Amino acid sequence: MLILIVGVTGNIGQKLIAPLRQRGAQVRGLARHEAKMAPSKLQLLESFHDMETWHDVPAIRKALEGVDAVICAYGPVPELVLEGQLLLVRLMEEQGISRFMPSAWNLDWTALDWRDVVYYDLFLATQRQLAMSSTIKPFYIFIGFFAETFFSLPGHGVFNPSTHGVWDSNSGKPKAEYWGTGDEKWQITTEQEAAEFTAALICDESREPGVYRYCSWEYSVREIAAIYEKERGVAVRLEPQGTAEDLQKTAAATQQELGLARFWQWMGYTYQIHQMSRKTMMSKLDNKLYADVKRVGLGEFLRLHPEI
Ligand SMILES: NC(=O)c1ccc[n+]([C@@H]2O[C@H](COP(=O)([O-])OP(=O)(O)OC[C@H]3O[C@@H](n4cnc5c(N)ncnc54)[C@H](OP(=O)(O)O)[C@@H]3O)[C@@H](O)[C@H]2O)c1
Repeated sequence: MLILIVGVTGNIGQKLIAPLRQRGAQVRGLARHEAKMAPSKLQLLESFHDMETWHDVPAIRKALEGVDAVICAYGPVPELVLEGQLLLVRLMEEQGISRFMPSAWNLDWTALDWRDVVYYDLFLATQRQLAMSSTIKPFYIFIGFFAETFFSLPGHGVFNPSTHGVWDSNSGKPKAEYWGTGDEKWQITTEQEAAEFTAALICDESREPGVYRYCSWEYSVREIAAIYEKERGVAVRLEPQGTAEDLQKTAAATQQELGLARFWQWMGYTYQIHQMSRKTMMSKLDNKLYADVKRVGLGEFLRLHPEI
């Protein structure tokens, strides 16, 4: 099977290459900046195709030639989620390619209503448009938060208190800000496990398109702090921010003040609202589908990332 990774130079894109190869696939890459790839990763590719941007139609058409399946690993940018992916699908249709994994790896937005999390509105709109107008039936994968994003590792997204997230490594004096009781659970997955699960799924020709859910860990803020303290011998400062009702009011006021164009600055509140209400929680997981996906515990992840 020849699989094209669109956005192969990104965090997930690069992590997908080796697991796909291990499962016998040939891998082609398409992205803007080849120089972002280590030579050892480039060597694993059947070929690398350059693109100017997400609407570089000639480059996308060329990269799709002869491909059996496409994984879109574009970054979390509104125009990539909506226009970029819809354009990609139209070009896939031209060439009769139907096996497709769009860029998801999100908190589970399938039960969300419009406006609950404005960034996820773009995924809901894309999903709706494909369901109404395309022959392509995608594989959607949900994973909760990426561990790398939850702990705000550089280059993996910011979910610390500056964007109304939780964890602040705080130069070796860690703290966690939380709303509610601190016992509400977070679902978190490492990028590596998400990539391995994705590779297993797309290479498994017995699997039908649809929704799949994977999660590495489910812990509350208090549990994460306890694991951290045991692992590092350093106390984590827990800072309560208020009740669920306080959170709703703060989120509504900030959204009103900053508006949609600055959604990144207040969206962290809305992730927290729907995590607390459990509207984005995955109740049934597909972790058991592929027993050979290598699991990494939170303690081990912390050992791998001393910067947290
Ligand atoms: N659940 C979570 O916590 C969480 C967190 C983060 C991401 N995600 C999901 O995972 C997906 C992948 O995230 P990631 O961190 O791997 O993304 P990333 O590293 O930021 O970027 C992925 C790719 O997008 C490409 N790209 C960016 N702007 C582009 C443009 N204008 N035209 C063409 N290509 C462009 C990048 O190309 P260059 O290398 O050339 O810049 C890169 O190849 C996201 O879309 C999101 O759905 C989930």
